[in-house]
Formats: sequence, C-alpha cells, structure tokens
Amino acid sequence: MSVEFHELRVSAVIRETTECSSFELRVPDELAEAYRYKAGQHLTFKLPWDDFEVTRCYSLSSCPDLGEPMKIGVKRVEGGRISNWLNDSLNVGDSLFASIPQGRFVLDPETRSGTPLFLFAGGSGITPIISLLKSALQTTKRPITLLYANQNRDSVIYGDELDRLADAHSDRVDLHYHFDSDGGYLDQAAIDGRLHHTDIAEFYICGPEPFMELVEHTLNESGVHEELIYIERFVSPADPDRAAHDEVDIASLESPEVFSLWLNGRSRTVPYTQGQTLLQCAQAAGLNPAHSCESGFCGSCMSAVKTGEVHMRTHEALSEREVARGVALLCQSVPASAEPLELDADSTSFRTASAVKSSYSKAWSRLAAVAVFACMVAGTLVLRLVH
Ligand SMILES: Cc1cc2nc3c(=O)[nH]c(=O)nc-3n(C[C@H](O)[C@H](O)[C@H](O)COP(=O)(O)OP(=O)(O)OC[C@H]3O[C@@H](n4cnc5c(N)ncnc54)[C@H](O)[C@@H]3O)c2cc1C
Ligand code: FES
Repeated sequence: MSVEFHELRVSAVIRETTECSSFELRVPDELAEAYRYKAGQHLTFKLPWDDFEVTRCYSLSSCPDLGEPMKIGVKRVEGGRISNWLNDSLNVGDSLFASIPQGRFVLDPETRSGTPLFLFAGGSGITPIISLLKSALQTTKRPITLLYANQNRDSVIYGDELDRLADAHSDRVDLHYHFDSDGGYLDQAAIDGRLHHTDIAEFYICGPEPFMELVEHTLNESGVHEELIYIERFVSPADPDRAAHDEVDIASLESPEVFSLWLNGRSRTVPYTQGQTLLQCAQAAGLNPAHSCESGFCGSCMSAVKTGEVHMRTHEALSEREVARGVALLCQSVPASAEPLELDADSTSFRTASAVKSSYSKAWSRLAAVAVFACMVAGTLVLRLVH
C-alpha cells in the first residue's frame, strides 16, 4: 500500500511574518475521516518541480480537538525550492496533493493528566508545538512550559495566538520567548532555568538542528530519561536530481529468508525479498506499518531493531543517538546479515508511556521509602517515651 495523495484546496492564506505564511486546507467531505489527525502530526505533499516531482512534509499547526480548519505554516528556507515557492505563489483556490496525516510527534494518551509538559520550539518549529499546546490545554490538565526561540521579535510565528493562550490559561501555561537579537543564542543556563519536576515530565523539541541539540543535551545533562524526549526533525528528502548514491552495495549483503515484525501488538513473520526494503516486504505480506514519505525523512516508519542488523540507505529523520539505540526506518532498511531479524514497529509510537510510569513508580518508591523511614523514627520515639 503505497502512500495515496489527495487534492486539498487552499481556503485561506495568512501572512504570519515576512518569512512565513500559513495555508488553510479544505478537506473534501468524503475524505474527512481519512484526514482525522492528532496534534503534532504532519502532511506529506507531492509537488511538481521542473520535469520531476518532489516531496516535502509540513506539520499541522491547527488543533484537531478544537475543530479548527486544517492549517500548515511554511517558513522560507534560504535557497529552498518549495518553501519559497509556497510563500510566493500559492493562493486561495489553488490545490496541493497531500498524504493523509502521519507522524509520532504526538501526545501520549496514556500519560497522567497532571504530568508537566515542556515544549521547546525554535523558528518554524512552533508549527507542531502550538498544535500540541492547544491540544494539551483542551484535553488535559497538564501544566505546560513553552520556550520559543527566535532571531528577533519580528520573526515570532503565531505570537498573538500564543499570548492569548498564555493569558487565558495563566494558571497552566508558562510562556517564555528568547530573542537572539537581545544578547545571543539560547544557552544551557536559560534552558536549565525553566526546568522543574523533570523527574515526571515529558519534553517535545522542534527547531533548527543546533537548537534541538542544545535542548536535548541540556535535558540529558539534567538526567531526563531519553524516552521522555520527543524530537521532530524538519528535513527535506534528497530530490531526484540531488539524490546521493548509497555507497553500500545492497546486493552484496546477506539476509535472512524471513524477519519478524511486531505490529499492532502481534508478531508477524514476513518473507524477505532480496533488494526490497523491510517496508516493501511488509506491504507485500499484506501489512501496513505507519509510513508517509518513504524517503527516510519524515520518521513515520520508525521501528526498534530487537535482534539482528539492518543497513539504512539514508536516515535523515533520525539522530545519531537514535541510530545508536537501534531505531531504524522501515522504508530505508534492508537486512545487513543472515542473523534472525526482529523489529518492533509499535515500540516507538508511544514510547514515553513506560518511561513515565517508571518515573512515577520511581517517585512513589522514593515517597514510600521516606514514609517507611518516618514511621521507623516515630516508632523509635514512641518506644523511648513509653520506656
Ligand atoms: C516531519 C516534518 C515536518 C515539517 N514541518 C515543517 C513546518 O511545519 N514548517 C516548515 O516551514 N518546514 C517544515 N518542514 C521542513 C520542510 O519539509 C522543508 O524541508 C523545508 O520547507 C525546506 O524545503 P525547501 O524545498 O524550501 O528547501 P530545499 O530545496 O529542500 O533546500 C533546503 C536547503 O538545503 C540546501 N540544499 C538542498 N540540496 C542541496 C544540494 N544538493 N546542494 C547544496 N545545497 C542543497 C538548499 O539551498 C536549502 O538551503 C518539515 C519537515 C519534516 C520532515
Ligand atoms: S516513511 Fe518517512 S521515514 Fe520512512
């Protein structure tokens, strides 16, 4: 089942800043169900360019829980093909071809309602973050800290909406802006200063690569469990005219005859066909693991390698840390040895759940230990008094 693209019409264009425009998209009634989405998800677009097609992802900045029109926000990238074309040329009434919404940068429905939520956005990274913010305000009681970094005040996207939300929910929302123009880039101390109760909290990061690295590094240094950190990478795929050649000769790699794939809570045995990706083999076996761009940059098909080895043609959507942890993209992976291969396509979908629970149990065990100690001290005192 390769990705289907449907025609969506632009119903509004909003100039947010000199560098960024939002586009509201109208979904035909018959596709309303297919285009249901979760806050933080994105659409993949197929666009004509010269004599070939390119694909790009854009996160939805609208909130599904508020019934808002579906909206994306696109910020110009210097020298970029599509971001500039969309800002310069896309008008109301035009159409775009988009996949159904995908992505794992979403709130975990199993997280307890009061768990603090930390959101870190840089520049256009605010698009999925504002959607998460609105959704968390609407559907949970979670206290939310948002740190939003920009070059200067004029480059803030959705500033009025953010200010309104922070005013309307002043008991729950702690909103901080950082402007590089005021004294340089964001630093570790500024992030540290915003962290509190980090033992039982979740963290969402989206922005330029150096910004995300800084935030992730700071969280790691503060002892935050890596499974509590969600990251969305805004990258483009290699367009057909820019595609890099895979240096590994895939035909030379050994492979098992079958591999196991955990999907929707069940382990499935999938025949492996030499030269095909694990996603293609799973699809040939009648399975439909989450996927969207099929080019290694959206992250929708992330899976955990449990046993065995894979080679990825490209893995733009993953950090080196994720690759080292054994996260693989099904759409880019082929087996790299004949060893038994097992992957878990469920494991990273809501990967915070277990970690949050273990953080809670850690917190509860600490509380329990303190309570036991207090009882022992009280008991000793009572015994001394009695004697
Ligand atoms: C899941 C996801 C969600 C996203 N959401 C958003 C969003 O909400 N808003 C948003 O604005 N963006 C978002 N993006 C990023 C977006 O998809 C595009 O990557 C971005 O708009 C740039 O695309 P472009 O075509 O303008 O630039 P491209 O043409 O892809 O170029 C990007 C940069 O790379 C350089 N470059 C590319 N190839 C070469 C080459 N061969 N040699 C030299 N230089 C090269 C270009 O000069 C340019 O500086 C998202 C990405 C992902 C994966
Ligand atoms: S489908 Fe996008 S990374 Fe695999």
